[in-house]
Amino acid sequence: MRKRIFTLAAGVAALSLGLTACGSDSGTTSAQEGGGGASAPAKPGKIGVILPDSKSSARWETADRKYLTEAFQAAGVEFDIQNAQGDKNQFQTIADQMITNGATVLMITNLDSGTGKAVLDKAKSQGVATIDYDRLTLGGSASYYVSFDNTKVGQLQGEGLVKCLTDKKVEKPIIARLNGSPTDNNATLFKQGYDGVLKPKFDSGEYVEGPDQWVPDWDNAQAATIFEQMLTQQPKIAGVLAANDGLGNAVITILKKQNLNGKVPVTGQDATVQGLQNILAGDQCMTVYKAIKKEADAAARLAIALAKGEQPAVSQSVHDPEGNRDVPAVLEEPQAIFFENVKDVVADGFVTKEELCTDEFADKCKEAGIE
Ligand code: BGC
Repeated sequence: MRKRIFTLAAGVAALSLGLTACGSDSGTTSAQEGGGGASAPAKPGKIGVILPDSKSSARWETADRKYLTEAFQAAGVEFDIQNAQGDKNQFQTIADQMITNGATVLMITNLDSGTGKAVLDKAKSQGVATIDYDRLTLGGSASYYVSFDNTKVGQLQGEGLVKCLTDKKVEKPIIARLNGSPTDNNATLFKQGYDGVLKPKFDSGEYVEGPDQWVPDWDNAQAATIFEQMLTQQPKIAGVLAANDGLGNAVITILKKQNLNGKVPVTGQDATVQGLQNILAGDQCMTVYKAIKKEADAAARLAIALAKGEQPAVSQSVHDPEGNRDVPAVLEEPQAIFFENVKDVVADGFVTKEELCTDEFADKCKEAGIE
């Protein structure tokens, strides 16, 4: 009898030691294991992440997924990252499954505020902590918001377009605007940013206000159709504010058909390989680089703390006008990228020289100082 008790106790001690090691903060433990045991800190809960799609921007799969995965693995927490592929029903199904499978933290990039809110409210009612990642869910209930200063992103786009038009010495340019998805609060903030730069120029007569349209779901194919119609109706468009690199590329494909690429400056956002190559080729005026590693790291830090049952403090907040509340936030700084500083994006490790400087762009890369 004695012996049996001893064996059992030793077994429990060993188990508890093993789990303690697993749950350590050293970051050297296996990716999918959490810690636990009597003397160990409580086992962190699972973290679920839902990304929006893989078409509106390359970033979600090539950058966000990668950096979030790296951060969670380094911390040794259990996580599941899924992509809703633009499907709002699927988005809700994934959220339900994650909660059923034991997620205690849910991080979402919504497809629209309505479905985002439903997901957040349901999670909250089941005691699951929530984070809005990149896009704020208007009227939502997320405990935290992690993103960039999105009005600043738009401001950089507006100022970038002005710089390119000034360099080209275009007089009284007619400006077209292709805004992002009308259901993405970021698209609204980007527009506030660039309209803040462009409106005074329209008002003073320095620039001429041309067509201005939203692109549903940031859909690149629709953007091409929309811009083709804009150009048919107003062939003298001399500058295009496109809200991201995908929309910018759609515009460039249409401009190419008329041999207008390179003559009409086009903006972008996300510093995608395609966007940067368009800049190197001289077809795109600028993009906005958002260091997604910083955004993902900040979000992962919060998620991991929440998974451990902590209530992490952050120093910023954003106002949700629909829910009329201030949401604790972490906002990173965006950077404008022109031909001259494409190299900064490579130096930061966001894109590699190999991806960017394919044979076709080798000379331009050299010219841009990418070694
Ligand atoms: C993001 C952009 C992205 C766009 C389309 C926005 O909410 O902030 O980086 O290009 O969605 O996916």
